[in-house]
Amino acid sequence: MMRTVTAHGGHRLAPWHRQGVLLVGVVLLLTGLGWLALHYRAGLAAAADDLPHPLEAWALRLHGLAAYGGLFMFGVLAAAHLPQGWRLSRRPRRAHQRASGVMLSGLAALLAASGYGLYYFAPEWFRPTLGWTHAAAGLAMAAALAWHHPRRSAARR
Ligand code: HEM
Ligand code: HEM
Repeated sequence: MMRTVTAHGGHRLAPWHRQGVLLVGVVLLLTGLGWLALHYRAGLAAAADDLPHPLEAWALRLHGLAAYGGLFMFGVLAAAHLPQGWRLSRRPRRAHQRASGVMLSGLAALLAASGYGLYYFAPEWFRPTLGWTHAAAGLAMAAALAWHHPRRSAARR
């Protein structure tokens, strides 16, 4: 089994965990933002006919596929990262990682719940609100992940 505790007492994600999180994260962001751009191209001449753009369905198909990957990766991290991360972040210099880690976990739950709502339940009048809340949670997750990353100065000490 791969050694994930570093010499400075930190904890490194296995490379496929880090790459998996980044890959599904990028695909989710691009397909989510791409869908928004296509769907709300209001005011453009091309949108005058009011028909959905043909690529909208494909953006959501790919988004749905990546969403399965996102939930899988969250499950992987729940077992392989959260317990170690929680212990490590007791140290004051890693307090920001505990705060951003809790935030990331909460946002992942919000994305899963709102994504489920969008797919199975959302009535037409509520869909835009739920969709924007979901997309805002997705953007907040990208920002929280950037904040969560270990800082060089903390990692060296
Ligand atoms: C309660 C929840 C969490 C806690 C307490 C936590 C804590 C930590 C800590 C302490 C580190 C730094 C390790 C070091 O400096 O050596 C870290 C790194 C990291 N965490 Fe978390 N984490 C949590 C949740 C998450 C979640 C949900 C994700 C992804 C969506 C995530 C992704 C990462 C990544 C990508 C790194 C960088 C590791 C590397 O580059 O190898 N963490 N976390
Ligand atoms: C683990 C993370 C995520 C999960 C589980 C997830 C899940 C879903 C699901 C199931 C749908 C409904 C698809 C359909 O109606 O066919 C959806 C729609 C959508 N997602 Fe995500 N998603 C995630 C992350 C993101 C991110 C990072 C963004 C970035 C902006 C985003 C933006 C959107 C948008 C704009 C829609 C369409 C909203 C609408 O129909 O009004 N999602 N997502």
